Amino acid sequence: MTIPLRLTLNGQPREIALDDPRVTLLDLLRERLGLTGAKKGCDRGQCGACTVLVDGRRINSCLTLAASLDGAEILTIEGLAEGDRLHPVQAAFIAHDGFQCGFCTPGQIMSAVGLIREGQAGTDPERIREGMSGNLCRCGAYAGILDAVQDAAA
Ligand code: FES
Ligand code: FES
Repeated sequence: MTIPLRLTLNGQPREIALDDPRVTLLDLLRERLGLTGAKKGCDRGQCGACTVLVDGRRINSCLTLAASLDGAEILTIEGLAEGDRLHPVQAAFIAHDGFQCGFCTPGQIMSAVGLIREGQAGTDPERIREGMSGNLCRCGAYAGILDAVQDAAA
């Protein structure tokens, strides 16, 4: 039995026939739709590398069943830039060296985009640290990440 799933994915309507109700949004994106920007760090909600926006809110896509998202609007790192023009948060991460190996970066950027849209952290460093605390960076690029989010939020 397949489950029909209608999504708006990075601004495009998609109709997907899910053949497994247990598939997560992360696996759907990476393994079935070829969108590998969201990363599988822990697969259990602890690292934030898989962060995407669903209906404008940050979620861990490794913890979200794709079957629960019929009608949802999903934004991944692949949908953030407009043509050749980077999103301001992407540009700020480059300007402030907000990454080293880059593995956590798509999740960091999507989380920062969500945090800025939520509008509660502003440029306050403590609030940004708290708001980004679900996104771990094994390289320890936190100082650059904080500067980037502050800059993009200003
Ligand atoms: Fe989803 Fe780590 S892969 S939180
Ligand atoms: Fe390497 Fe964050 S830049 S894990």
